Amino acid sequence: MFNLVYKSVANSLSPAQIDEILVESRNFNGKHDITGCLIYHDGFFIQYLEGNVYVVSTLFEKIRVDARHYEVILLSKGSIYTREFDTWNMAYLSNNLPNEAFQYIKLMVNPEFEIPNMSVVPNPTSKRFWLAAKLLLNKIGHENFNKER
Ligand SMILES: Cc1cc2nc3c(=O)[nH]c(=O)nc-3n(C[C@H](O)[C@H](O)[C@H](O)COP(=O)(O)O)c2cc1C
Repeated sequence: MFNLVYKSVANSLSPAQIDEILVESRNFNGKHDITGCLIYHDGFFIQYLEGNVYVVSTLFEKIRVDARHYEVILLSKGSIYTREFDTWNMAYLSNNLPNEAFQYIKLMVNPEFEIPNMSVVPNPTSKRFWLAAKLLLNKIGHENFNKER
């Protein structure tokens, strides 16, 4: 099992265009046993992807060149033993969410506040950060998300 986290700058996208990305993602990911979480905040994306190393890497190469975003920067990648988002083909979180972990997203995605070695805790490459995301998703409820695998 393998995971990766990247950040990118979104091109100006309507809510419908974000939905399109989610529908497309959940469809493909469901068929290819990929799970993860997409965060959209203040015009930036942070995405966590997990699954088979080859499948995730190949998908990332497609995502990297997607014209809906740019400045795609890989923040971390590596082997994992278990999935973090095993019931979400692509969970989605956006801004204005009532969780203190997400105040850090702004720091993370704004290049002018670049943090040496991602030292902010929790940072989007850390387990703790994604744990906070999971807690938030559980609070919001599963019903809004496609949890079919
Ligand atoms: C921010 C962002 C996240 C994306 N996440 C996924 C994803 O998790 N799974 C997926 O299949 N496509 C995702 N896509 C869409 C892919 O970039 C691409 O459009 C899709 O894989 C279809 O590519 P194809 O038409 O070349 O097969 C994402 C796109 C963007 C902009």
